[in-house]
Amino acid sequence: LNETLLRSLPAPLRILITAGPTHEPIDPIRFISNHSSGQQGYTLAKAFHDLGQQVILVSGPTALHPPPQVEVIDVETALEMHEACMEVLPVDIAIMAAAVSDWRVQFVPDQKMKKSQHQGPLQLTLIQNPDILAEIAQHSQYRPKLVIGFAAETENIEDNALQKLKKKKCDWIIANDVSASTGIMGGEENQLQVFTTHSKEGWSQKKWPRMKKQLLASYLAQSILEYYNNLL
Ligand code: CTP
Ligand code: CA
Repeated sequence: LNETLLRSLPAPLRILITAGPTHEPIDPIRFISNHSSGQQGYTLAKAFHDLGQQVILVSGPTALHPPPQVEVIDVETALEMHEACMEVLPVDIAIMAAAVSDWRVQFVPDQKMKKSQHQGPLQLTLIQNPDILAEIAQHSQYRPKLVIGFAAETENIEDNALQKLKKKKCDWIIANDVSASTGIMGGEENQLQVFTTHSKEGWSQKKWPRMKKQLLASYLAQSILEYYNNLL
């Protein structure tokens, strides 16, 4: 643990972390979602809390217990997650670890849909959800000093990560290779590649050693605080 680093932080930083999937309703009893467990965001929230920081965790539905003493705002949908995040601003650091559903159903009926009313294939119109990361990174009033996004990719990691970095205008993209051959999805270990724009060459890339997810969260939290400190 880097004691010098922690002493050099003036006060606990306010850190917004999003985690988990979102649920997008189809009708009052059905939804669309994805496979996110929320583990990434929850372990990071705990790691920052253990380092004495003030964490606000905006979480979609997960089966995880929130880390004790961390402020949690529970949400269901991407729109709710978006609204909750905007209300939490301003923060010093924003870390978007949630797997936000990219689309939501345009018209959600008030009552359960019945098969008898929908003969044949059912067609749903999906519209795009707001990009929370991009919006926070380009916020005119409350742009946090450090905005970090994640990218789980199955191919062309470098190209995809750099594209996200540029398009969303965040400071870091933490990418991991979730293609089946790595065994990372659902496994105990992870390997990260951190892409950042703050460098002389326009961007830089660091590949971290593969390690246990818990340990990774703790190193990551320290490394983020260190980086933040050097921005001051
Ligand atoms: N993100 C977000 N709001 C969204 C979609 C994504 O805040 N509506 C954030 C995620 O939390 C993550 C980063 O953006 O930190 C990248 O998410 P990802 O799904 O990899 O990228 P997308 O821009 O949605 O592109 P695609 O899914 O098409 O690869
Ligand atoms: Ca997406």
